[in-house]
Amino acid sequence: MCGIIGVVGSSDTLATLLEGLARLEYRGYDSAGIALVRPGETWRARIASGTESVQALKVECELAPSGFASGIGHTRWATHGAPEAINAHPHLDCSGNIAIIHNGIIENHTELQEQLESRGHLFNSLTDSEVLAHLIEESRAKGLELMEAVRESLLLVRGAFAVAAMDATEADVIVAARRISPLIVGTAPGVTYLASDIPAILDRATAFYAVNDDEIVRLGPEGFRAIDLEGSPVRLHQLSIDWDLETAEKGGHEDFMSKEINEQPEAIRATLLDRRRKDGTITFDEMRISDEELREVKRVVIVAAGTSHHAGQVAKYAIERWAKVGVDVDISSEYRYRDPIVEVGTLVIGVSQSGETIDTIQAIREAKRRGARVVGVSNIVGSSLARESDAVIYTRAGLEVSVASTKAFVAQVAALEVLALRLAQLRETLPPHDVDALFKGLNHVAKQVGRALERRAHVEDVAKQLLGSRDFFFIGRHVGFPTSLEGALKLKELSYLHAEGYPAGELKHGPLALIEPGVVVVAVTTDLFLHEKMLSNLAEVKARGATVVAVATDDDETIDALADYVLRVPATEPLFTPMVDVVPLQIFAYAMAKGLGRNVDRPRNLAKTVTVE
Ligand code: F6R
Repeated sequence: MCGIIGVVGSSDTLATLLEGLARLEYRGYDSAGIALVRPGETWRARIASGTESVQALKVECELAPSGFASGIGHTRWATHGAPEAINAHPHLDCSGNIAIIHNGIIENHTELQEQLESRGHLFNSLTDSEVLAHLIEESRAKGLELMEAVRESLLLVRGAFAVAAMDATEADVIVAARRISPLIVGTAPGVTYLASDIPAILDRATAFYAVNDDEIVRLGPEGFRAIDLEGSPVRLHQLSIDWDLETAEKGGHEDFMSKEINEQPEAIRATLLDRRRKDGTITFDEMRISDEELREVKRVVIVAAGTSHHAGQVAKYAIERWAKVGVDVDISSEYRYRDPIVEVGTLVIGVSQSGETIDTIQAIREAKRRGARVVGVSNIVGSSLARESDAVIYTRAGLEVSVASTKAFVAQVAALEVLALRLAQLRETLPPHDVDALFKGLNHVAKQVGRALERRAHVEDVAKQLLGSRDFFFIGRHVGFPTSLEGALKLKELSYLHAEGYPAGELKHGPLALIEPGVVVVAVTTDLFLHEKMLSNLAEVKARGATVVAVATDDDETIDALADYVLRVPATEPLFTPMVDVVPLQIFAYAMAKGLGRNVDRPRNLAKTVTVE
């Protein structure tokens, strides 16, 4: 994790770095730092101020000397070494001329550090990253140019990196490289940028390029050139970006989360746009798998983490019901190390908002190694997941800045249901008019999500009344179960309250022992298949003194007798309900967190994109 940024040839270096770091804070924010480099001089500032590190760095940089055309910056999410200023990046070599920033983990850093120390290098931090500065220093001492020195150093390291290095003895050059951790390059006349992610340089660069694994880029004011780890020239793939800066800002809302919750109808609409050809065929964004292969799929495995995993769990119900093929949903960090079975006809679906979550990327790589075909569902065009998949469906939710995922979830469910319908179409497991009707129904969901959003004030009021509660169980059946998992995840990560999601039918197998007065049970009761069974489960918790909050459809007259509070939503086709039902749960978690004075956009200990295992 961590965000990195760099610029060469700028007349506005400091502002570029500080603004960029502010937009990269979602990648980590426990400390931040910059280094400005010009011939013979490196100026560095670093600060560790928790969630306010970038803001504090700005104040620190008021003392920065002017006239630096190049610099690098870093916002950190600690992995090795406590979140303290000495461990903040950039790190310097022994001479103080070379400055490096790094996102990722150097797995063999202990052994490298021992070797470097035995040759007289002095280390100033407890990070895995600092070895890079000293390795580059040794290569430079042999007379190698910075690009060659970085290449030679990277041949010695194992692990993941997006790294950028500068040297005051070769100023106006930044050398950056990537393995696993994301890295992009941007250009504008006379200025070249690098960053972990596009928003950091969105308003400054006019063209954007993706750096692939094991590629090294030399940036100068005149542009860039790239090589691979063997030293052979490579061409970077240009990205087409249609975001404007406003998408990256709060758009008048108090915080990004509130903005992103409100953007959900649009996220669903955009994700469904242009998905059907005139002949009714459903299409993906990128397709390198034949229809024949999709038709012959024998088993589907969905790999994802967190909220994306919950969207994957919803998709299991849709794919099995519509396309009649068995689906397993795997936590991506578990998949890779389990010696997974990949038989002929296995289709693996990787789901990731960022498209950079390392667990999910490694899971799809493992699946590919074992012969699976891979479909990626990602929100980021040109992300690692998108590039490494055989087919891609983009969730066009727009930039999601708040650490907790909201609009990405509904867009993922929509995209995965499109995929389920395509499989059903090819396998002829649904008649064409059913595919038609379901597709039209899916298009209608955005409106129903909009109507659910209109009830925000009531949900906030319920949250206010429950502010003193400390234990929450979220329960549901069928797709109400993954929706409950998502409701519980939102509440725990935003408010830091104890919340668990359970299949309602599982309560009596253990958790019921925890139900007593003061415990709140939030029940998703909209699934019409199993409504009566849900009501029985509610009666069971009510009898044991729990406070019941029910998410129920507008026309459900049975619920008032069992629930203390009812959060109403418009009714929809059962398999579409997670997109609608999650809305009051998101607002509930948001309102509880706000009521408890939490920072909803940046919950403690978390980062938006998890690029370490
Ligand atoms: C929870 C949340 C995380 C992410 C997870 C996967 O609100 O945001 O659980 O869903 O880290 O991230 P992506 O989808 O980028 O792979």
